[in-house]
Amino acid sequence: MMVDISRRNALILGGVGIGGVAIGGTGFIMSQGSGSPMAPEPSAGNALVLPPELQSSNGVLTVALECSSQQVSIAGRDVRALSYNGGVPGPTLRVRAGDTLNVSLHNGLTEPSNLHVHGLHVSPEDNSDNMFVTIEAGDSYDYRYELPAAHPPGVYWYHPHHHGFVADQVFGGLYGAIIVDDAEEIPATRERVLVISDITFTASGAIPAAAQMEKMSGREGELVLVNGQLTPELGARPGERERWRVINACTSRYLRLQLDGQQLTLLGIDSGRFESARDVDEVVLAPGNRADLLVTARAGTSTLRALPYDRGASGGMMGGGSSTSAEVSLATFAVDGASTEEFPDVPDQLVPNDLRSATVTAQREFVFAMGMGGGMNGGMMSATINDRTFDASRVDATVQFESVEEWMLTNTSTLDHPLHLHVWPMQIIEQGGRTVESVIWQDVVNIPARSTVRVRVAFDDFRGRTVYHCHILDHEDAGMMGIIQAV
Ligand code: C2O
Ligand code: CU
Ligand code: CU
Repeated sequence: MMVDISRRNALILGGVGIGGVAIGGTGFIMSQGSGSPMAPEPSAGNALVLPPELQSSNGVLTVALECSSQQVSIAGRDVRALSYNGGVPGPTLRVRAGDTLNVSLHNGLTEPSNLHVHGLHVSPEDNSDNMFVTIEAGDSYDYRYELPAAHPPGVYWYHPHHHGFVADQVFGGLYGAIIVDDAEEIPATRERVLVISDITFTASGAIPAAAQMEKMSGREGELVLVNGQLTPELGARPGERERWRVINACTSRYLRLQLDGQQLTLLGIDSGRFESARDVDEVVLAPGNRADLLVTARAGTSTLRALPYDRGASGGMMGGGSSTSAEVSLATFAVDGASTEEFPDVPDQLVPNDLRSATVTAQREFVFAMGMGGGMNGGMMSATINDRTFDASRVDATVQFESVEEWMLTNTSTLDHPLHLHVWPMQIIEQGGRTVESVIWQDVVNIPARSTVRVRVAFDDFRGRTVYHCHILDHEDAGMMGIIQAV
């Protein structure tokens, strides 16, 4: 049976958690303990379940989140993982431009953590999206995020960001979606949040520590999950239009997504929407990227697949692994029944900002490099930006508030690095020597191995100190991160 948690039901479900502590599972059917010390085989093919949703009303959303290590159901198995409010992924937070989002986070882990609202254009200071807050084990912290009235709509997400612990905590299950709704709704039959993540379990249902070699290329989990499920089933009728909010929450894995036989229209990547919606055959998401997609259903059964993506090899000739992921089936999309209504095309919209004709006041170069020796943990690996690893007491780039800068991002290594900048999105100007003809804003921009990308950034609306880093989270934890301050 197809269980489709409609937004309304999800809201009721989610509403239980407002002001409370534990919201409970994300709607997983809690599996019965088998009594055996061995975890059962992962089970696939259940109806897709959406994370519970918490939605703002009257301009405010107040949420209590608790991160902890506990028994949860993932891929149909009873396993010990990390979760927000007992669910993997955590609840979806749905807000609008101009809203205030209050998150009270209790750290129920045995190590430090904190919270980052990835992609939101909010202040990096005080108790907003401040990367220098540490919440010790057992402590709580109250975040308050004020979205500007002109905040772009789109798909965002939250995850921990305590340097040195990020890859383990995200891989362990700590992530959830944030949706900033459109000012004017795009007609669709239904909306689905699809949080794609990867994870590995031992036979006893624990998450193994990553080996040094895996960290070098960036760990990839053996199971690729959609909303914590293995190849869930989605059902629709021909002609129905679905809005898919897809998040690549994988620690290192790139997702080259295809859905054969269906019509895909890409509305935007990361924040905001494109000037014109684009019909696409595939969407490539680096770790941290999101896609805002319309799927117009056609009769037949399709498989949502992640195709092999070659993100280079670590260590060059020195024996590091190749990082081409194998093809994975993520979900099935079964379309049958009577045809339904037709939907109008998505109208073009004015893109609020285009920096191609802006006055650039500073140029900067960032060089991403990897090497053997001299780095973290006994000299196995170094992952640097401009020859340096992260130092919380050093500001690497001081930029003028309200200026526009052009950044040359050069990757000298044999592995792709997805650069992520907090607070201010980047407009892609040139990729692999080719000028980008359309207006593309992203907060994670892939820099392919041995290549250069040019972006422009407008340091608008906020002053303060935050970070930019590689979103292969093992690289970030290894120090491929710098501090930027807008003054
Ligand atoms: Cu998604 Cu600095 O992170
Ligand atoms: Cu971020
Ligand atoms: Cu990297």
